[in-house]
Amino acid sequence: MNENELFSVLCDNGQEHIIEAYKKLDQMGKKKLAAQVEKVDWSVVAMSNQASLSQERGNLQPLSALEITEIEKNKAEYEKTGLMAIRASKVGAVLLAGGQGTRLGSDGPKGKYNIGLTKDVYIFERLICNLMEVTDKAGCFVPLYVMTSDKNHDETTAFFEEKNYFGYPKDFVKFFKQEMAPSVDFDGKLYMEAADSLSLSPNGNGGWFYSMAVTGVLDDVKERGVEWLNIFAVDNVLQRIADPVFVGAVLDSGCVSGAKVVRKADPQEKIGVLCLEDGRPSIVEYYEMTDEIIHSREENGELSYNFGVILNYLFRVDKLEEIMNQKMQVHVVEKKIPYIDGNGNMVKPETPNGYKFELLVLDMIHMFENCLSYEVVRDYEFAPIKNRTGVDSVESAQALLQKNGVVL
Ligand code: UTP
Repeated sequence: MNENELFSVLCDNGQEHIIEAYKKLDQMGKKKLAAQVEKVDWSVVAMSNQASLSQERGNLQPLSALEITEIEKNKAEYEKTGLMAIRASKVGAVLLAGGQGTRLGSDGPKGKYNIGLTKDVYIFERLICNLMEVTDKAGCFVPLYVMTSDKNHDETTAFFEEKNYFGYPKDFVKFFKQEMAPSVDFDGKLYMEAADSLSLSPNGNGGWFYSMAVTGVLDDVKERGVEWLNIFAVDNVLQRIADPVFVGAVLDSGCVSGAKVVRKADPQEKIGVLCLEDGRPSIVEYYEMTDEIIHSREENGELSYNFGVILNYLFRVDKLEEIMNQKMQVHVVEKKIPYIDGNGNMVKPETPNGYKFELLVLDMIHMFENCLSYEVVRDYEFAPIKNRTGVDSVESAQALLQKNGVVL
C-alpha cells in the first residue's frame, strides 16, 4: 500500500487522526504504522456502532450431560480407550495463554504468577504437573501447544526455558502467537499506544485454531498424527489436561467435540450454559437467558439448564479444519484502554473508554454438529484464577488446591 492508498483507506474509515500521527514519524515509524493499518479489518472496526446490539438467540433446549454417576460406572472402560488414544499420539493439548489477565492485575503472562505459600508454585508449573499425572500413567508424552500473543510471547517462552519446561520434554512443547486486534474509542476512532503504533491487543481466545494454522504449528499436529485437541485456559489450576477418562468418553459417544461442565451452584450462577440452540450445541451466557429458561426444571426436579462450561474442550481436528474459515461472531467489549493522547501523553483510564474486538472459543461449539456434555466435580477440577481476592481468585484457588492435597 503506497502513501496515497494508506491515506485514502484511513479517510474512508474516518481515521484522519492517524494520518496526522503518521506524518510526524520518521521512515521507520511510518513503515511500522502503515503495516499495522494494512492489517486492520475495517468491517470489524465498523462494529463499534453495533456494540449495544446483543446477539439474537435461536430456539433453546436443554442438552443432557453425561453425569458423574454414569461416568463412574464406566470409568475403567473410558480410561482404557482414552489412554489408547494418547499412546497412539492421537491427543494433543492446547494451552490458551494469550490473554492479558487484566483482572489479576499482574504484569506479564498469567502463567508466571506465583501462587505458592511456603515455596514457589507458578501457574504454568501447576498445569504441567497436572498434565504429567496423565503422561506418567500413559507412559508417553502429549504434545502441548501454547498460545501466546505479541504482548507476552517472549516472556512466556523465556520463562519456560528458565524453568526447564518444568520437567516436560521441550520437543513436545510448541509456542504460537495469536492474532492482534485494534481498539477504538466509543466513536470508533482507533486508539494509539505509542507514537508509531496503534493500540493492539490479543483478539480473544476464539481464533486459536486459525492461529495454529497460519503460524505453521498445525503442521506439527499433522506430522504427529494428532486427531483430537484438548483446549484449556491458563487460569484453572485444577485443570485435568488430556484427561483419558474424558477423551475415552468422547470417543465412545461418537461426538465430534466434548465439553467439561460443572453443575450450576444455583440457577443464577454467572456461568455460560451448554445447551442446544436450533438443534445444535451452543453456549448461552446467563444474561442471554430469560428468567423462565433459567428457572425451568425437568420432571425429576433438576434445573433444565444445569451445566456450565469451564473452558476445557475436546475437538476433532478434521472438523476444526472444516470450520476454520467460517466467520466467527465478533464480540465488541467495553474495556479500559490505555492510549496516547494528541500531545503524546500516555493516559491510563479508570473506567472503560472504548471497545476491543474479541472472538470467543465458546462460539466454536455451535459450529460442531454435536458435543458431549461431560460433568466433572467442581471442587476437583475447577479453580479459576481471575482476580486477586474474592470469587475466582488466587485465594480461592489456593484453598481448592490444598483441599486436593497440593502443597503450596
Ligand atoms: P479470560 O477471558 O479470563 O481473559 O481468558 P484474560 O485475558 O485471561 O483475563 P482478563 O479478562 O483480562 O482479566 C480465558 C482464557 O483465554 C485466554 C486466557 O489466557 C485464558 O486462558 N485468552 C484470552 C487468550 O489466550 N487470548 C485472548 O485474547 C484472551
